[in-house]
Amino acid sequence: MRPLLEIRNLTIEFPQSRAGQALPPAQQAGTKTRTKTGAPVAAVSSLSFSIAPGEVLGLVGESGSGKSITALAIMGLLPPAAIVTGEITFQNGDAVPTHLTALPPDQLRQLRGSRIAMIFQEPMTALNPVTRVGDQIAEAVLAHHRVSKSEARRQAVAGMRDVAIPDPEQRARSYPHQLSGGMRQRVMIAMAIVNRPQLLIADEPTTALDVTIQQQILDLLNDLRHKFGLAMLFISHDLAVVSHVADRVAVMYAGSLVELGAKADIFHAPAHPYTQGLLRAIPTLSTDRALPLATIEGTVPSIAQLPPGCPFEPRCRFRVAACAVQLPPLVEVSPGHWARCPVVNPPGV
Ligand SMILES: Nc1ncnc2c1ncn2[C@@H]1O[C@H](COP(=O)(O)OP(=O)(O)O)[C@@H](O)[C@H]1O
Ligand code: SF4
Ligand SMILES: [Mg+2]
Repeated sequence: MRPLLEIRNLTIEFPQSRAGQALPPAQQAGTKTRTKTGAPVAAVSSLSFSIAPGEVLGLVGESGSGKSITALAIMGLLPPAAIVTGEITFQNGDAVPTHLTALPPDQLRQLRGSRIAMIFQEPMTALNPVTRVGDQIAEAVLAHHRVSKSEARRQAVAGMRDVAIPDPEQRARSYPHQLSGGMRQRVMIAMAIVNRPQLLIADEPTTALDVTIQQQILDLLNDLRHKFGLAMLFISHDLAVVSHVADRVAVMYAGSLVELGAKADIFHAPAHPYTQGLLRAIPTLSTDRALPLATIEGTVPSIAQLPPGCPFEPRCRFRVAACAVQLPPLVEVSPGHWARCPVVNPPGV
């Protein structure tokens, strides 16, 4: 089956200040040249993965590993100073896939919110505080379909029903601040799916919610994917959360993909020391609550000061001298299971 979304060798760089830090967005306006501020730094390096129609790919990694900017690159929403190379293609129902990175802005805007939709961690930042939620969902319909306002409103209420908002006619008249965090996230999801996209990008959609509401939203996303054949890029820093929805899991570390495989491979046969560390940090029923949870010692290196070899080397308990010299390649350790660590997975074994 042809992939719905395919990312090949995606690299995203940002201009760098003389001090070696990526410049804050406000200072990046108009900074397109590399010479003014020194060599740009890569926040995402040669990233490749694909998502099949109807498949859910979980994208995991600690804060700063490049998950959100990967999502923004797919949506064409990166800040103008970002330097993007590589290919992002989307199967838009045509004979040949659409190259998102080369698409004129108006065509990309057409795709966004219709074929590809996105939900974020904090719905309050994405919802308009002074517009009733039903009207906001109706606006999403009107942005992509020539229908009357009353038909758009009817579809908005139907969308609210799809995300199990009780009494949707009544709730459609609420303002965002009148709804709980969980209900607001349901409104965001209704707005995202009302035009029946093929791909939903969910960037930490449950991180701001408490645990019971988190589980309800994960259940809802699972229901919706089956009901509408929705493919998803589900982003989280939390491997345990990803395990509730993903078919396959991609693990990122400091802008590089370090492991990719079916959920069972990642959870039962993790092949990269970083993934193994993430798994040890998940509490299980047998975890002794009296002891502190295992954590990975050290911190993620700044993207401006990445070591030349394996980015995980400073924190890795398996490291050997060669690890510091060159970034190891991704190798297929079993069918469809890739890892970037030749020490734990020596070639030919
Ligand atoms: N607008 C920006 N300008 C400069 N650097 C940025 C910008 N946005 C993100 N970055 C860099 O990209 C890295 C990855 O960011 P992000 O994708 O938001 O991480 P994640 O979502 O995995 O927490 C950050 O550590 C930061 O250094
Ligand atoms: S390549 Fe070396 S440093 Fe990197 S994860 Fe493997 S053993 Fe650790
Ligand atoms: Mg993020």
